[in-house]
Amino acid sequence: MNIAEGAARSGGREFLQYLFIARGSLSELETQILISKSLGYIDEVESVMSHINELFAKLGGLIHSIQQKVVKKMTLHISHLTPHEESSAASPQKILVTGAAGFIGSHLCIRLLERGDEVVGLDNLNDYYEVSLKKARLARFSDHENFSLVKMDLSDREGMEALFAEEKFDKVVNLAAQAGVRYSIENPQAYIDSNIVGFTNIIEGCRHTSVKHLVYASSSSVYGANETMPFSVHDNVDHPLSLYAASKKANELMAHTYSNLFDLPTTGLRFFTVYGPWGRPDMALFLFTKAILEGKAINVFNHGKMRRDFTYVDDIVEGVIRVLDKTATANPEWTGKAPDPGTSKAPWRVYNIGNSSPVELMDYVGAIEKALGMEAKKNFMPLQDGDVPATYANVDDLVREVGYKPDTPVEEGVAKFVAWYREYYSV
Ligand SMILES: NC(=O)c1ccc[n+]([C@@H]2O[C@H](COP(=O)([O-])OP(=O)(O)OC[C@H]3O[C@@H](n4cnc5c(N)ncnc54)[C@H](O)[C@@H]3O)[C@@H](O)[C@H]2O)c1
Repeated sequence: MNIAEGAARSGGREFLQYLFIARGSLSELETQILISKSLGYIDEVESVMSHINELFAKLGGLIHSIQQKVVKKMTLHISHLTPHEESSAASPQKILVTGAAGFIGSHLCIRLLERGDEVVGLDNLNDYYEVSLKKARLARFSDHENFSLVKMDLSDREGMEALFAEEKFDKVVNLAAQAGVRYSIENPQAYIDSNIVGFTNIIEGCRHTSVKHLVYASSSSVYGANETMPFSVHDNVDHPLSLYAASKKANELMAHTYSNLFDLPTTGLRFFTVYGPWGRPDMALFLFTKAILEGKAINVFNHGKMRRDFTYVDDIVEGVIRVLDKTATANPEWTGKAPDPGTSKAPWRVYNIGNSSPVELMDYVGAIEKALGMEAKKNFMPLQDGDVPATYANVDDLVREVGYKPDTPVEEGVAKFVAWYREYYSV
């Protein structure tokens, strides 16, 4: 049932009743005016007019109260449609989080442990960027009694099979991947190994051990050459501009086949430029902060004419947890005659998770300068290969079905990152 149907079934019925009464009163008054005028009773007409004015005043209040009732019922209806089956200490789940030593994965592990879940964190601790940072992230939660670390590569087929068979996870969040758009030009094989072979091992494990829900990281980069903004999951995404983007789109397609063949519920999350404390050293916020503090120039690509939907890491984690708790279901209205790219007749979903409020790159730089109290030296450069000039998430589906929308303002998130960076690196 969609929201419009919900409104019609709940608040809509009362709304129609009120309108019916109001219409009856109005036509009665109109008749009185006509009769009075035809008989020349001017005083009476004036009296009727004052009645009409009173009635309109009452109607205004009535309509306001109807609107409030409808909104209230619709809100109740939405929460009914999207129950947050949150796990609690009373019903903890065993969850595999891959990429546990990574930026987003480490934040997610902490949140899941805090709410009482049992977390198995998998990571190969590769040296794509400083391993000490990955270890420091792990140190924040690795001694938690409900946490265990598995140092393994996703592409280790036998190892992954044995892990799934032994642990029997309730749910899986796959965040481990070779990330980065530009690195996929230098080292394409890493993307095939981790994102394609590794992802195959993940979905195979889920299939053979009846995992209840697989949630996996996709990326805003799947929108590739699309220019219709904001980017919608209901738009076709068949024109990726980098192997990284293609590998994430491939994950969505692979997941669809497993949702279809084996009834495995899967949800892909297209993250939009995630930033925040414990962030990635290869991403703009980290690179800019480091360079500014070292008195070096920052590389501003596309001559600063870039817009990004920057999304704060806590908002991403909240979204991941809510999605994890809301097992993907089939869309009963889906039809192969007009195939909706964002849903399916199989229990398969994709959602955008972005701030839905794009920021100009120069404003982002301004927020960093403000947080640091320093001005950046800037090298203006052309757009990098494989990169896109703008991203902007349409999060309507996430709001409607999961009841959540990221909303941390960039100034606030950047200030938190800068405070973390200065403390972590003692600068
Ligand atoms: N950070 C963003 O802005 C962003 C945006 C879109 C999508 N994503 C996706 O979100 C996920 C998490 O991103 P992140 O920013 O936390 O990246 P990250 O690089 O910090 O974390 C990924 C972790 O996975 C591990 N890993 C990589 N390949 C592995 C393999 N083959 N086997 C086992 N472990 C492996 C790495 O060691 C790392 O700790 C990734 O899938 C990424 O593609 C991130």
